[in-house]
Amino acid sequence: MSPYYQTKRGQVVLGDSLAYMAGLKARSIDLIVTSPPFGLVRKKDYGNVESHEYVEWFKSFGNEFKRLLKASGSLVIDIGGAWIPGQPTRSLYHFELAIMLCREMGFYLAQEFFWWNPSKLPSPAEWVTVRRIRVKDAVNIVWWLSITPWPKASNRRVLAPYSAAMKGLLKNGYRAKLRPSGHDISKNFSNDNGAAIPPNLIAIPNTESNSYYLRYCERHGLKPHPARFPASLPEFFVRMLTDDGDTVLDPFAGSCVVGEVCERLHRRWTCVEMREDYLKGALGRFERAPEPKQEQMFDASGESSAYKLHHPAALWNGHEDPLEKDGGKERKLNARRRS
Ligand SMILES: C[S@@+](CC[C@H](N)C(=O)[O-])C[C@H]1O[C@@H](n2cnc3c(N)ncnc32)[C@H](O)[C@@H]1O
Repeated sequence: MSPYYQTKRGQVVLGDSLAYMAGLKARSIDLIVTSPPFGLVRKKDYGNVESHEYVEWFKSFGNEFKRLLKASGSLVIDIGGAWIPGQPTRSLYHFELAIMLCREMGFYLAQEFFWWNPSKLPSPAEWVTVRRIRVKDAVNIVWWLSITPWPKASNRRVLAPYSAAMKGLLKNGYRAKLRPSGHDISKNFSNDNGAAIPPNLIAIPNTESNSYYLRYCERHGLKPHPARFPASLPEFFVRMLTDDGDTVLDPFAGSCVVGEVCERLHRRWTCVEMREDYLKGALGRFERAPEPKQEQMFDASGESSAYKLHHPAALWNGHEDPLEKDGGKERKLNARRRS
């Protein structure tokens, strides 16, 4: 397949990524980072989602990924969960996908990550805001899989600022002692390493509203891709898992966010997308020198943005409304009016 668009480091390909990958040399890719379509779950007559159909569909992609990745390589899949239509329960498809890739195809689960979108609106509304029987679904799972148990990686590439508590501790000192949990907190804990090792919970709001990409789409009368991930998500993994000059592939490229990130970080890259209307907009990402970042990294006060989760007990006051005995099955119209 000839490139639809090319830069010095990368290319955009229009077509089916399965056909494209079949023409590539084995062991030629350092990282596959992607967000596959999530919408393939279908309702069966008996109300259960056919997650095995999704897993079956994914197998031919998984086989190619396994063939193409170098032994030091990684496969990173951002995958949204799904609700079973018409009932307040979740599909298991994303878990079954990870189990299939590891058990049947021999990938290793290097680590699971959770991408928390703090700006996510409460959904699905029926279960969350009307019947109040589930909480807001605001986290995507990101599977980090590898070919061997030892993919190349360094958390030094993705360090985070120290928390205020840790800064205080570094300033005021820390008495080495055994924690109640049995952890022996040694003096090394109070060494100032300049930054903190981040957790596997990644907080990035998906609120792009004034990016160059969106302005480009508007200027050209193009519809922006409806399911984009924020650039900082693939960037985290490109930084942590690849070196300058390594090769990165996104086989479900959408608006080619991964290509834009790789341009910025000097990785070689290929983005494959089967819909030309998405690629027309994606080209806006490459028509000028890469910007340092498109997303909001600093708030109005100039502080680097950090997102707080309240302690779950912050508002617990001993008052408890009785629970609905039917688990919310009967839709009560006044349910919405109660706090
Ligand atoms: C969730 S979207 C990816 C969005 C992308 N991460 C972004 O931020 O713009 C998945 C994309 O995969 C594309 N796709 C699905 N099957 C494909 C295939 N076999 N080959 C290439 N693209 C495919 C869809 O058209 C869709 O644009």
